[in-house]
Amino acid sequence: MRAYRLQDLGSPSALRRQEEDPPQPGHGQALVKVHARSINFRDLLIQQQRYAVPARPSVVPLSDGAGEVVEVGPGVTGLRVGDRVTACYFPKWQAGSLEMPMALDQFGCTRDGMLADYVVAEAAALVPAPEHLSFEQACTLPCAALTAWSALTGGRPIAPGQTVLTIGTGGVALFAVQFAKLFGARVVALTSGAHKAARLRTLGADEVIDRQLHPQWASEVRRLTHGAGVDHVVETGAIDSLPQSLAACAANAEVALVAALGQGSLDASALRGLVTIRRVFVGSRAAYEAMHRAITQHRLEPVIDRAFAFDEAHLAYQHFAEQRHVGKVVIADR
Ligand SMILES: NC(=O)c1ccc[n+]([C@@H]2O[C@H](COP(=O)([O-])OP(=O)(O)OC[C@H]3O[C@@H](n4cnc5c(N)ncnc54)[C@H](OP(=O)(O)O)[C@@H]3O)[C@@H](O)[C@H]2O)c1
Repeated sequence: MRAYRLQDLGSPSALRRQEEDPPQPGHGQALVKVHARSINFRDLLIQQQRYAVPARPSVVPLSDGAGEVVEVGPGVTGLRVGDRVTACYFPKWQAGSLEMPMALDQFGCTRDGMLADYVVAEAAALVPAPEHLSFEQACTLPCAALTAWSALTGGRPIAPGQTVLTIGTGGVALFAVQFAKLFGARVVALTSGAHKAARLRTLGADEVIDRQLHPQWASEVRRLTHGAGVDHVVETGAIDSLPQSLAACAANAEVALVAALGQGSLDASALRGLVTIRRVFVGSRAAYEAMHRAITQHRLEPVIDRAFAFDEAHLAYQHFAEQRHVGKVVIADR
């Protein structure tokens, strides 16, 4: 089979392609023919050796993929050859709280991921893909969509008419816009540039702020909310956007802290408000299944910026790293 593996993490040419035998499913496992994968910010961090969880040497990258079960090992129940599936970001986190051993087990990091023709996964980590979605659409769900879902459903409930602030036009932020609209919220979306702003409006964002035109965008959020501030923030920016997110909050608002914060520090004065900060780590299988039900019910379609061919994986990484994308960057089977 075709596979990419990460060699010499940290080097620009870490992504290496090779031919190898497909893996074999063991007890309780299934073999999945992967038809499409998507890139997340963490995949760049892993390649650059900057991710919090150390990657296994020579690992097949990417947590997110969608495909078809082609073989099941002994002891597998509830999964059949031909099923269309995606894999859970944390294969061992079924429900409840995330525990450290579960967090340390991830596709495309500590175990082989999706940038190959086949992947082996335990049946408990595989979830049927929503029927109305193609493989290219379904492969965007495991990390970005579930993170947005957890950001909006895992804490303080959103009441219809409340205001949600989203940050950027990456995968997580666009799913957050789409889900927030499902919940009847008013969305204030932050972005950079007129083209991205226009795209956000077509997705249903009620107000869009261009942070290039409004570097002190928190005051613009306040203006657009008649001084009240927002009730929820899906914070996908970085350590430099967090103080403004907090300044944009209404009393008793909740900030779902999603972003990989990177280098920098936070001035304690940013924490003066009556605001709850809740850390989000993707989500459990139970949350993933709940999200699928909502996506299916509303026939929600992920926003795909561009799909690259398997041979163009390097270009897909480069395109993603340049941050010109709006939505998800996909590597398909072609
Ligand atoms: N905790 C978790 O479970 C989890 C899961 C998934 C992702 N994440 C993190 O969430 C973040 C977003 O992930 P993603 O996959 O959606 O990334 P992405 O596709 O790379 O999108 C990032 C977008 O955010 C905006 N942005 C970047 N830096 C910013 C800044 N300093 N201030 C304001 N906006 C900024 C840009 O959009 P515009 O040009 O439109 O402004 C950029 O395109 C990353 O930090 C990622 O590591 C965390």
